[in-house]
Amino acid sequence: MVVTTGSDGITPRDGWSSRTAFILAAVGSAVGLGNLVRFPAEAGANGGGAFVLFYIFCIVLIGLPVLLSETLIGRHGQSSATESVRRMAAESKASRYWEGLAGLGVISAFMILAFYCVIGGWVLYYIGVFVGDLFTSGVTGGALAGMSAEDISAIFPALLENGLLMTVLDLVFVVITVYFVARGVSGGIEIAAVWLMPAFFILLLGITIYGAFGGAFSETLTYLFTVDFTKLTPDVMLAAVGQAFFSLSLGVAGMITYGSYVGRDVNLAGTSAIIAFADTSVALVAGLCIFPIVFAAGLSSEGGLGLMFDTLPHAFQSMPAGSVIGLAFFIMVGFAALTSSVALMEVPTSWAMEKFKTRRMPTAIAIATLAGLLGVASAYSMNALSGFHPLGFIPLFEGLGIMDTLDSVTAKLFMPIGAILTAVFVGWIADKRLINGENGLDGGLHKLWLFLVRWLCPVVLTLIVLFGIFG
Ligand code: PHE
Repeated sequence: MVVTTGSDGITPRDGWSSRTAFILAAVGSAVGLGNLVRFPAEAGANGGGAFVLFYIFCIVLIGLPVLLSETLIGRHGQSSATESVRRMAAESKASRYWEGLAGLGVISAFMILAFYCVIGGWVLYYIGVFVGDLFTSGVTGGALAGMSAEDISAIFPALLENGLLMTVLDLVFVVITVYFVARGVSGGIEIAAVWLMPAFFILLLGITIYGAFGGAFSETLTYLFTVDFTKLTPDVMLAAVGQAFFSLSLGVAGMITYGSYVGRDVNLAGTSAIIAFADTSVALVAGLCIFPIVFAAGLSSEGGLGLMFDTLPHAFQSMPAGSVIGLAFFIMVGFAALTSSVALMEVPTSWAMEKFKTRRMPTAIAIATLAGLLGVASAYSMNALSGFHPLGFIPLFEGLGIMDTLDSVTAKLFMPIGAILTAVFVGWIADKRLINGENGLDGGLHKLWLFLVRWLCPVVLTLIVLFGIFG
């Protein structure tokens, strides 16, 4: 029997008000800094079209099957991530320790939340910079008028040096996030997704079209889509798989949690395909949005966070209406980051609500406070605490400060291990009668999915972990 009461066991459990709301929230979780910063930078640097093709291959053959597995566990369990896995394990007469896979996800989500909100704070800072700039540079001219290239290059390092400012901005971002999480699934998280995601899409398309007319569009097409298979080395392939997983928000029990709020009438396979398609399209369009602006300014692509926080501000300077576009751009990034941080906060919140039988509001505030504190430590790891390497005694994490350690431990170990366990649990352990009724697939597609979840996903993900450790 499906239990549909909330953590107090009496009131009905909150859930998405419609399938569309679920899709928007899940796409909101998936579309984030990963799509807007990491994907374009990696695609450009790693063989353009070859990388893009391989990435799509990873999304379809590895990401999508695991996405369906996660939503399926959640929808079946109608409970927090750990409880949902425990229920499916119990009904399959398997060990209750399988719930550990979701427990690991809860920890990962919390760790990512802590540093994700710090980066969200940086985005807020740039929104502030471009709002101020509207007054100094005006609406029609380029952005950051009167600043030399050196001045612009100094903005980001100066921010990273200012621990107090980053702390304040991090906490503001955490407070905005908890505002939505504390108000519940249909009354908060869903509201954020339903308003912010359409606004995000409009901004993304608007800036892309503007960039396509004024910018170096054909150069971008060459850069992103010229197929060069020689650049597709094993480490590039593994980077593509890792990126596909991070981008789809897998391995952190996030999609188990969001899946648990989905109604019985929703076809999970079709819905998961829409989510994966939307996430991948945004990653591709993000490339078509960013590079025309960068190349038109005669700049070259830079990897990592520097592309967004250093290269783009330079590019906005030489762009007509650069202040407006710069502001619109960072607002768009802020929306994407916020719907992802909301998802990251919901995972530990729903877990704690059920574990401690507490109400949503105080639980969310407690999680936010803890994540905020860890975030402050991450912010200071860029300056005052830069010499502190929490896991420096482990060769894999040698020399990494707090923020990089949180990133590395989750990306290299916890997320892929969580995803391997999910695939093995659904593919081998769970009772097939539970799965067959839940996934919305039949015939050949069902067989294909089962094959991927049983074999391809665990094998490829194990390679990622091993490569991460020894490569
Ligand atoms: N998918 C998000 C991004 O691309 C990050 C994320 C990971 C969000 C895990 C939620 C859970 O930025």
